[in-house]
Amino acid sequence: MSGTERITTARLGTNGPEVGIQGLGAMGMSEFYGDTDEAAARDTLDAALEAGVTLIDTADVYGRGANEEFLAPFVAAHRDEITLATKFSIIRTDDPHYRGVRNDPAYIKSAVENSLRRLGVDVIDLYYMHRRDPAVPFAESVGAMAELVHEGKIKHLGLSEVTGPELREAHAVHPIAALQSEWSLFSRDVERSAVGAAAELGVAVVPYSPLGRGFLTGAFADAAKDLQEDDFRRSQPRFSGDNARRNAALLEPVHTIAAAHGVTAAQVALAWVHHRSAVHGLTVVPIPGTRRRSRLLENTAATWITLTEAELALLEPIAARVAGDRYPDMSLTSAARES
Ligand SMILES: NC(=O)c1ccc[n+]([C@@H]2O[C@H](COP(=O)([O-])OP(=O)(O)OC[C@H]3O[C@@H](n4cnc5c(N)ncnc54)[C@H](OP(=O)(O)O)[C@@H]3O)[C@@H](O)[C@H]2O)c1
Repeated sequence: MSGTERITTARLGTNGPEVGIQGLGAMGMSEFYGDTDEAAARDTLDAALEAGVTLIDTADVYGRGANEEFLAPFVAAHRDEITLATKFSIIRTDDPHYRGVRNDPAYIKSAVENSLRRLGVDVIDLYYMHRRDPAVPFAESVGAMAELVHEGKIKHLGLSEVTGPELREAHAVHPIAALQSEWSLFSRDVERSAVGAAAELGVAVVPYSPLGRGFLTGAFADAAKDLQEDDFRRSQPRFSGDNARRNAALLEPVHTIAAAHGVTAAQVALAWVHHRSAVHGLTVVPIPGTRRRSRLLENTAATWITLTEAELALLEPIAARVAGDRYPDMSLTSAARES
């Protein structure tokens, strides 16, 4: 199947927007994954639209506002063709490793104004709480997000890295269209409680880092050698030293299946994430991040791959064998509130 054919669509949540079944993560276009070629990144955005990729994902924290500003001209040119998703709550300082969280209503009200201004829009289609601060009553934060809907500043609510019980609590305050959490062949803790709750509530799951931040493509057996000095992944446990070597060995079945289908490891990894939709009975719209047209087309072409039961069985044990956590500090993740 040619990657230029438009991908199919799905609805986020019961009353949410209809989007291409695969979205695009724009984070790496501004920060975290080494140097970006701006012209190539803009060409990738154009390729996304041509392929039917309409869910464009950013956050106020990516590049500390720079990623939203980078997207603004593209958004202005294609406002009605895309579903624009951004996020609030992560606080940064000049210390590149620092991460704080703010969920209080006053903060949410100011954060949305800043995102609207940087994106150059009147309304955000999908507004996510990026991380939860358990010190703030959840109903209060979600209630503040719901007020933004009534004020016409956002259209739909999303949550990132919440547990199943938290998703239920939020959904009782206001319908949640999408849960964005890490979900890939390497990261399956979201299946503990959140996926089941999402399926029951009719909330779509938007898997982030579906390529394991690139590791599942087979490109990073040795982070010290393969990654630029300022690449954020150098600090990720799974990319470091012995863990990286052990994790690279886990990709053997991915490569075997890729060869059998005549596709790439990245495409097998994405096909596995798309297949979660059938396994768990819910809408799944992964948002792989790329800054290159060729990879965008490679990734959308993965939506047409069907893995056999035998292949799925080969991939099943991988996640449990992965060496290293998803983050150096897991305290802000949903997993930290489930163990
Ligand atoms: N909610 C959250 O807390 C959270 C956290 C992290 C990310 N996100 C969102 O999720 C999006 C995706 O996650 P991610 O970017 O972290 O990880 P990802 O999608 O798993 O992987 C991205 C990496 O894979 C590379 N890549 C993409 N397609 C490829 C292909 N076909 N072949 C080889 N390499 C390929 C990219 O490089 P090139 O760019 O050079 O192609 C990049 O280095 C982000 O952009 C962001 O919007 C959300």
